[in-house]
Amino acid sequence: MTFRTLPAVPQAALEGSMRDFRVMEGIDLLERCEHFFAWQDVRRQSGTWPFSRSTETGPASTCGVRDDTGTLTEGVNFASQDYLSLSSHPAVAAAAKQAIDVFGVHSAGSPALVGNTSTSVVLERRIADFLKMEEAILFPTGWAAGFGVIKGLVRSEDFIVMDALSHASLQTGAYAATRNISLFRHNDLENCRDRLVRIRNRSPKCGIMIVTEGLFSMDSDTPDIEGLQALAKEFDATLMVDVAHDFGCLGEDGTGHIGIQDMLGKVDLVMGSFSKTFGSNGGFVATNSRAVKEYLRFYSPSCTFSNALSPAQIATVTAALDIIQSDEGAELRRKLMTNILSLRSQLSDLGFETYGEPSAIVSVKMGDEALARMTARALPHVGLVANLVEFPAVAKGSARFRLQVMANHTPEEIQAAARRVHQAYLIARRELETNEAADEKRLSA
Ligand SMILES: Cc1ncc(COP(=O)(O)O)c(C=O)c1O
Repeated sequence: MTFRTLPAVPQAALEGSMRDFRVMEGIDLLERCEHFFAWQDVRRQSGTWPFSRSTETGPASTCGVRDDTGTLTEGVNFASQDYLSLSSHPAVAAAAKQAIDVFGVHSAGSPALVGNTSTSVVLERRIADFLKMEEAILFPTGWAAGFGVIKGLVRSEDFIVMDALSHASLQTGAYAATRNISLFRHNDLENCRDRLVRIRNRSPKCGIMIVTEGLFSMDSDTPDIEGLQALAKEFDATLMVDVAHDFGCLGEDGTGHIGIQDMLGKVDLVMGSFSKTFGSNGGFVATNSRAVKEYLRFYSPSCTFSNALSPAQIATVTAALDIIQSDEGAELRRKLMTNILSLRSQLSDLGFETYGEPSAIVSVKMGDEALARMTARALPHVGLVANLVEFPAVAKGSARFRLQVMANHTPEEIQAAARRVHQAYLIARRELETNEAADEKRLSA
């Protein structure tokens, strides 16, 4: 593949982060957004803003992608979270179409009123059974489930002890529920215990929720779930685990790290999303208590006051679940894992470090934001669609590419992804060196 030289990148595009615009100056709420827009536009115009892109085909393994300047490029797609490739499975699509014929396109009500259909009730039962829990309740999205389970159960006098890398939905729910939030060091049980000791000494009567994820979506690592549940028991706390990225696609039977760690049915609260493996928007919370399910339905605002999943979404998730629990699902998980291991090993052979344990998220270390942004700029030109992750989603200096692997990626596409990351990285290094040399020349002139 030949690569044409791209225009020079202004230094401003390589500096700053979205964090800089969280606190905004000025009294005009709308005008304040201009500061962010100006910075974003420098990046957009120089090709270093790899966000807000749209595919021409949905999450196919090779696809056309249009950036928000309107430019269309083609590439192998490692930026979609459709881990078992079920969103394009013929049986899943057929189920969604049939549901529209039977129930129409809309649920037209919240689950607290008459938004559920007979099929949503069955899906709740099946999700609970799959996790060996007593009950499950559906939410319109995974975000709504994460936010809602915390906001629904935790009150302002209670405490939340949360892994510092927990997803934004969980953190937003926590800050909406209470000011008493204690972040423990990522996957560090001792640090979690220290915080619980301090809280219980000070507040023997408060409620405490411990929050973590089954598989962390930036680092691809997992906590000791059994250890955290034991801590919850010891301190009269409640453990909540977000399984958005491992439920359905990891473990021999698809029950993710909760299953792998032999904790099915033993975790206080399990919250998940359908948007990574089940081919649809949607989320759920599973519990061993009917009382908790009923309480969430009427006190979790993102459930109570939001429209229920549509019949087509319910049918999509149910058909995806049929496959996930079948031999075909097991075969898709094996294919996915083969792809994951192959991609990690090819990247490593090319000198790249990948984070965490093998999962559908293969995070490739870049480090420096400027280098990562320049690499992101080169990626569309070498034919790879991948997501850049930078501060504040990860720590400063820990920029990375998050390659999301799908079961339907072919060996050739896996090889192309590894090679193209390398190619883009070399281009970026060369361009940065040229930029620096030009700067030095200017300064000494
Ligand atoms: C860990 C985690 N929890 C929750 C969510 C939210 O899920 P959804 O996209 O279904 O709203 C995500 C999605 O990005 C996630 O990564």
